[in-house]
Amino acid sequence: MTTQRLFFALELPTALQQTLVQWRADNFPSEAGKPVAAANLHLTLAFLGEVSAATSQTLQQLAARIQQPGFTLDLDDAGHWPRPGVVWLGCQRAPRGLLQLASLLRAQAARHGCAQGTQPFHPHVTLLRHATSPVALPPRGFHWQLQVTHFSLFASTYAQGRTRYKRLARWPLSPHPGD
Ligand SMILES: NC(=O)c1ccc[n+]([C@@H]2O[C@H](COP(=O)([O-])OP(=O)(O)OC[C@H]3O[C@@H](n4cnc5c(N)ncnc54)[C@H](OP(=O)(O)O)[C@@H]3O)[C@@H](O)[C@H]2O)c1
Repeated sequence: MTTQRLFFALELPTALQQTLVQWRADNFPSEAGKPVAAANLHLTLAFLGEVSAATSQTLQQLAARIQQPGFTLDLDDAGHWPRPGVVWLGCQRAPRGLLQLASLLRAQAARHGCAQGTQPFHPHVTLLRHATSPVALPPRGFHWQLQVTHFSLFASTYAQGRTRYKRLARWPLSPHPGD
């Protein structure tokens, strides 16, 4: 059976990806970890793992039915998880819309055989991998804001030491109240 490694995620605008790459270079020494490529910077909503074409289709049909307003995301927090070796960017207060969207996608995934694990959802953008030694984090005060208007499904492939993400589908959120 052919499968694909899939995940639902929020894309970051190209300009923000570039800004974050520069900020990362300015704030972390090269030995801190392996930088994630600019184009791969994203925020995962639900990781599906290896999924059959039939399951992928079902989850895409369910995703297309989601009706939820967009929301504003403030990236103003950073952290280090030494066990998986991840340095991340996140939010001090996750918007309710983000938590609702992730919760729905994760529940739909779980109902269709994509185990969601026991760890609570912690929204983050992975900046560095293989960061298993202590890392000095930049002091708080950084802040990037984005309007989230869509969410997407990506396929993840790994070849010759490189991870690539291909967007398979993208769905709009309804206009943000007040926009
Ligand atoms: N892509 C592949 O097929 C593949 C295969 C073998 C090895 N690897 C290696 O695995 C490392 C990670 O690759 P990647 O993150 O770029 O691609 P990935 O493992 O396919 O992950 C894609 C996204 O899903 C998230 N994710 C992965 N497993 C998860 C889980 N069990 N629970 C919740 N979220 C999960 C990741 O979160 P985080 O950002 O928090 O990790 C990432 O945001 C890389 O160092 C790569 O060398 C990748």
